[in-house]
Amino acid sequence: MSAFPVTRLRRLRRTDALRSLVRETRLELDDFVMPLFACPGEGIVRPVDGLDGIAQRSVDELVREAGELGSLGVKAVLLFGIPEEKDDEGSGAWADDGIVQRALRALRAEYPGLVLVTDVCLCEYTAHGHCGVLRDGEVQNDETLDLLARTAVSHVESGADAVAPSDMMDGRVAAIREVLPETPLISYAAKYASAFYGPFREVAESTPAEGDRRGYQMDPANVREALRECELDLAEGADVLMVKPALPYLDVIRAVRERFDCPVAAYNVSGEYAMVKAAAARGYLDEQQAALESLTAIKRAGADIVFSYWTKELARWL
Ligand code: PBG
Repeated sequence: MSAFPVTRLRRLRRTDALRSLVRETRLELDDFVMPLFACPGEGIVRPVDGLDGIAQRSVDELVREAGELGSLGVKAVLLFGIPEEKDDEGSGAWADDGIVQRALRALRAEYPGLVLVTDVCLCEYTAHGHCGVLRDGEVQNDETLDLLARTAVSHVESGADAVAPSDMMDGRVAAIREVLPETPLISYAAKYASAFYGPFREVAESTPAEGDRRGYQMDPANVREALRECELDLAEGADVLMVKPALPYLDVIRAVRERFDCPVAAYNVSGEYAMVKAAAARGYLDEQQAALESLTAIKRAGADIVFSYWTKELARWL
């Protein structure tokens, strides 16, 4: 490349039209998935502290929200459930009349074209709040696999288009793949033990009663280990690899993108969203600009699919 003054990179930055012509990364609504939270009852929209715009919704309200999302052009949603009761096993996760199962049937009937992805995990359903079977303070890996597979099957039987296991047990992709050979599987492959899930745990009521998730979620310090997680999940039959959280892990997204040719997803988690909302509420930054910049960065790092609480607002902005 010739040096200045032959080369002047500012030439292509002079107008909106020029900047747009040479833009390398664009946001398209088709790549975004909106997380939704189903809760028992009727006519309930319970907003969540810190997650402005996000609420627990009873099934009827969830259907209404899905209709609004659909009319804005949103193509896919990720479903979580807050059950009426929790128990030691987390049996609400695979119950035929469980909260996610009921939400799936209602959404499926009303909006056949909407892509319904479900989060497959036990933590919203267990009284202790861990993602698997707990014995003597230890999460039991192999015993949990069957329960996750049952949960995934019950989601698909209720109308899910794709399942996304987020528990981080070893072998869970294989366990689900064995019983669901045809179902798209988005694996939370590189899921870190992150402080940025804080607001989610408020809305999902899933904070562990004792201990934390570091015995199964990944150490934030590791990237090579993330590639091993991804390799194993692909070998076990995952279709899409997800990195989570997104913003503090852009290097991991990039590494996964470069190593594997499957679609890569990233989860722009609750804490990432809450930080911007809180700062914007105090006038420290402009929410729309900060959100668009964050989401662009996640795409630029290499994500094909982005799970984000901004999806609905993004639909209005684009
Ligand atoms: C369930 C699950 C969590 C999130 C997605 N699925 C919470 C956790 O692992 O503690 C977090 C999502 C977010 O923070 O937005 N295991």
